[in-house]
Amino acid sequence: MNKNYGKKFVTLNNGIKMPILGFGSVLETDVSDFDAVYNSAWNKGYRLFDTASNYGNQIALGNWLQTLECNREEYWLTSKVAQDEQGYEQTLAAFQKTLKELQTDYLDLYLIHWPKEKTFFETWKAMEELYDEGLVRAIGVSNFEPNHIDRLLTRARIMPAVDQVETHPYFSNHVTHDYLKKLEIQPQAWSPLGHGGQELNDNKIIELAQKYHKSVGQIILRWLVQKGVTAIPKSTNFVRQEQNISIFDWSLTPIDEQAIDELQKGERVMGAPDENYTEDKW
Ligand SMILES: NC(=O)c1ccc[n+]([C@@H]2O[C@H](COP(=O)([O-])OP(=O)(O)OC[C@H]3O[C@@H](n4cnc5c(N)ncnc54)[C@H](OP(=O)(O)O)[C@@H]3O)[C@@H](O)[C@H]2O)c1
Repeated sequence: MNKNYGKKFVTLNNGIKMPILGFGSVLETDVSDFDAVYNSAWNKGYRLFDTASNYGNQIALGNWLQTLECNREEYWLTSKVAQDEQGYEQTLAAFQKTLKELQTDYLDLYLIHWPKEKTFFETWKAMEELYDEGLVRAIGVSNFEPNHIDRLLTRARIMPAVDQVETHPYFSNHVTHDYLKKLEIQPQAWSPLGHGGQELNDNKIIELAQKYHKSVGQIILRWLVQKGVTAIPKSTNFVRQEQNISIFDWSLTPIDEQAIDELQKGERVMGAPDENYTEDKW
């Protein structure tokens, strides 16, 4: 078993180390035995657990974390402030609720889940304060495109450490990644396997899987990691959990990496950030 693969790290712009691969969020509604899925992920070596206040699984995740016989420093917790929790006071309150649900006294990473125009700077101010107080080891954003980051940097004191953005072969998001790289903000791919969609049946990726004697999921995740993108694949299947983390002892050739780059179609699996950004209902 590849227990150490969850301990392959990138160093963030504030000097702390984050696992390259983490475990995407499993909703309680996805599984009959939540704990069994997370126990398996733990045993496979996953040490970063991604969640969000609006995923509805923080209480279950917090309960499961209590069953681990290890120190808190041995795993990484990421959570996110939701759209309807944004604003200065609201973000501080949402963070405390998340700590309580996860039964922890700090987070490793706290993200703004989606950019929101109205309370844009107030939310980040609260995030900075949480970081100053040592309640979170790194702060970042999610679904921020270059225009949102540009706006944030007009007033931010602290540079986001991570931007968690949709990234998979049919939506490579390379323009955002190039921009993030220049600012030393670490990209982290959400839905790295295209949310289990079309890419898993792509002829080119299947051909590469056969060539490397790997699964399609492994080829995609290896492609991301070679591009310097961290990822949080989700699987409730114990075999696929093992495959998804076993991507560190082999590599794709530059030509094969480029062949996957060329699959880019600009096809998202979810809505675009700007639909959330300016949405009146929030
Ligand atoms: N920040 C954001 O706005 C945002 C948005 C969406 C998601 N996320 C985060 O990103 C995580 C991952 O995204 P996701 O859950 O949308 O999709 P994903 O990880 O891209 O794909 C998960 C799907 O692929 C299947 N799968 C997993 N490994 C596979 C493999 N090796 N071969 C074939 N199929 C495989 C899974 O089925 P099985 O379970 O049956 O294996 C599941 O249906 C989420 O769990 C969440 O934590 C963040």
